[in-house]
Amino acid sequence: MSEKKLWAGRFSEPTDAFVEAFTASVEFDQRLAPYDIQGSIAHARMLARQGIINATECSAIVEGLRTIGTRIEAGEFNWSVALEDVHMNIEAALTDAIGAAGKKLHTGRSRNDQVATDIRLWLRAELDEIGEAIRHMQQALLALAERETDTIMPGFTHLQTAQPITFGHHMMAWFEMLDRDHGRMRDCATRLNEMPLGAAALAGTPYPIDRDFTAQELGFARPTENSLDAVSDRDFAIEFSAAASILMMHLSRMSEELILWSSAQFHFVTLSDSFCTGSSIMPQKKNPDVPELIRGKSGRVFGHLMALLTLMKSQPLAYNKDNQEDKEPLFDAVDNVKGSLKVFADMIPAIRCNTEAMREATLKGFATATDLADYLVRKGVPFRDAHEIVGRSVAHCVEHDCDLADLELAELQSFCKSIDQDVFDVLTLEGSVAARNHIGGTAPQQVRAAISRARTRITT
Ligand code: ARG
Repeated sequence: MSEKKLWAGRFSEPTDAFVEAFTASVEFDQRLAPYDIQGSIAHARMLARQGIINATECSAIVEGLRTIGTRIEAGEFNWSVALEDVHMNIEAALTDAIGAAGKKLHTGRSRNDQVATDIRLWLRAELDEIGEAIRHMQQALLALAERETDTIMPGFTHLQTAQPITFGHHMMAWFEMLDRDHGRMRDCATRLNEMPLGAAALAGTPYPIDRDFTAQELGFARPTENSLDAVSDRDFAIEFSAAASILMMHLSRMSEELILWSSAQFHFVTLSDSFCTGSSIMPQKKNPDVPELIRGKSGRVFGHLMALLTLMKSQPLAYNKDNQEDKEPLFDAVDNVKGSLKVFADMIPAIRCNTEAMREATLKGFATATDLADYLVRKGVPFRDAHEIVGRSVAHCVEHDCDLADLELAELQSFCKSIDQDVFDVLTLEGSVAARNHIGGTAPQQVRAAISRARTRITT
């Protein structure tokens, strides 16, 4: 393939060899090839439809591009750094293959609107996959929540035992986090779905193009409104990275909980051996590597968001070469988000709950103290007084190393005369969770209802 630069006309000296490699993007942007070809085919069809090229030229271009696409897919394409990027590599190969007609493909467009189109097409497809991956993980969470609707565990605030909750309820909290992530990815896909082609370098093109046609061919909702904006902004990439960062932040929090819960000290859950690794020196170790790695990867994705914001913030309109730096952070963010979602979804079904350990832990931390206060309120004690009474009862238990439910009725009555035998119903863990019986509450009955609503939500 000829390696003559497609823009060499006005140059009298060759590019410095190091500069050539330094400015090239083909090493990484070749990933956009299928979308570059798709965009070029739509552009060529539009040119022919508008009489800008003839039908024979158009079929030669379309055929030629398809063949190149097949070669690339088969790994039989020779990428040339001298040809700088994916766009010029493909265009040069086309002209090599079909001759003069290939040189007409670039009529009425620029690499600026071309690359802006390619990234949008690529990211739109990736967003579909990410959306599906989120749904898979949500399905896994629903199944686990359903299995553990009645499993009692301590709910924490400040990582101190707060109130009894059910494990299913906790899993449904994760589900909701992911559901908003799914929405953010959809929003991003909707907003980026505008077609830049026709903006050309920055000002538009004098050819009688039909942008509505090209937009339709490529499945975009509409052509972009402003040519300067179309070639210069990468806000959609930043928006994706922001959504990806929030998603990774969620996955990181979930990972952190799994890491804590699978420790010997908590012993709430057991992770499958297939998602853990051992230590080369300590034979007893089973390390939760997968959640740890996902927690670590969140930092990398946040970094990409910062990189893209910084990349964009001082650029004057319209296109600047700075924008070539948008791809690697974006690609890496997509790869890591997809990888993390996949491995998380695979790991969830294999989580085993150590029901007894969770129960023990719940019994230890005075998790039903609030229930006792609420009980006193129902007996006519003002809430502030009830809070004080329960506080004193807890202090008594701490001193005697026992739980509220271990106290005799007479002992409890020494703190408040309104306490009766029925107090023991509210001091049980089951009674406590069952009492939180409203939409969004932890009662098993409510968790079951939430699971069934969630199933409908993610399938409609
Ligand atoms: N490789 C370039 C990029 O990624 C393509 C656009 C180049 N445009 C230009 N005027 N040099 O942004």
